Amino acid sequence: MNVLLIGSGGREHALAWALSQSPSLNKLYVAPGNAGMAAVAECVALDVSDHRAVIDFCEEKGIVFVVIGPEAPLVDGLADALALAGLRAFGPSAAAAQLEGSKAFTKEMCTRAGVPTAAYGRFDNAAAAKAYIAKTGAPIVVKADGLAAGKGVFIAMTEEDALSAIDQCFDGAFGDAGAEVVIEEFMEGEEASFFVLSDGENVLPLATAQDHKRAFDGDEGPNTGGMGAYSPAPVMTDAIIAQVMEEIIKPTVADMKAQGYPFKGVLYAGLMITSSGPKLIEYNVRFGDPECQVLMLRLKSDVLPVLLATAEGNLDQLEVEWHDQPALTVVMAANGYPGDYKKGSAINGLEEAASDPDVEIFHAGTKMVDGQLVANGGRVLNITARGNTVREAREKAYAAIDKIDWPEGFCRKDIAWRALARDGE
Ligand code: AMP
Ligand code: GLY
Repeated sequence: MNVLLIGSGGREHALAWALSQSPSLNKLYVAPGNAGMAAVAECVALDVSDHRAVIDFCEEKGIVFVVIGPEAPLVDGLADALALAGLRAFGPSAAAAQLEGSKAFTKEMCTRAGVPTAAYGRFDNAAAAKAYIAKTGAPIVVKADGLAAGKGVFIAMTEEDALSAIDQCFDGAFGDAGAEVVIEEFMEGEEASFFVLSDGENVLPLATAQDHKRAFDGDEGPNTGGMGAYSPAPVMTDAIIAQVMEEIIKPTVADMKAQGYPFKGVLYAGLMITSSGPKLIEYNVRFGDPECQVLMLRLKSDVLPVLLATAEGNLDQLEVEWHDQPALTVVMAANGYPGDYKKGSAINGLEEAASDPDVEIFHAGTKMVDGQLVANGGRVLNITARGNTVREAREKAYAAIDKIDWPEGFCRKDIAWRALARDGE
């Protein structure tokens, strides 16, 4: 089978690496891809917002299945356009992708379906939003409604901060995404991510993970797309997973179907494990980046039939096998990320760094210039390892990082501190 994968990050390199091992795969294309993916797939320049161009490319190359990595093309209706053209796609319709594309949409779904989440209000003007803050006080969370590249969330510890966040949203700091704001109760607890597949009706739980969103050690510094992850997340015990399935995931999938927007794809639940049980922080409608990297390293089954069954509605007939070992990934980013950073610095030593068979290096922002690998983005490499324990996986990942020669890059040195602290380390 010929497959097209959309995206260019570490998440997509991990998916490409897993897909390339499938006995059912004939040829893998990636648009646009990166230097790492070029080893396992043919990278092609396609404008993915031009749906007709994507469909024409599939017809020309005999591609029958398209795997969509990031959220933007999903919210933009690429899966719908492919379906209309008779092509199979992994990823939800634009209507179902509102679970990520609109925070207000998700909050309303939670209310209808009885999904536990933070109490909230939604507002389309600053005066009403500020009046709400006057009633609730702080701490409080202010969010721009739409997609804001992870930047539209303010955890306001004081009322003053909350009022300033409201002004920023309505003053256009996030463009259309801030035309409406959602204001939420501040939830306390430990965060974890839970990934499930849904074919619109059936749900297949995949795995749990924990991300590290802040740029620097000790969870300090600005928020990022994610600086490292590991799976499974020890806070997600079997009992909590069962509770999340019954109280959060199943009611969501049933409600989406009842509303006429069946959710087909990977549903990524961001959870807060509070003293009164797990609560939904938010949904994403795609794999996490870098969580996908650890999931793919833990997955033992062939990934292609799993993604296909999600698109075709056969998830009830599927069993997925996992390696028992935990996996961990450390993100190497360009100095300055998530603020301004330079592109084009040389990276060396990857071959030696990846020589341990338990280590895989997934590329995010990289490109090849005259035979030299160079940085081409903020998050650049994901050093991913499996081990008998989280500690062992972490040692392997950092040992690999020591062999990488890239003075213009940095990484967090404390990935998995929560899991290790739990073990009393
Ligand atoms: P989001 O983009 O909605 O995932 O929010 C980004 C981060 O803000 C989350 O990963 C949480 O750490 C934090 N956050 C969001 N909503 C809340 C909330 N209601 N209470 C506490 N923390 C939150
Ligand atoms: N790592 C967080 C995300 O993918 O949204």
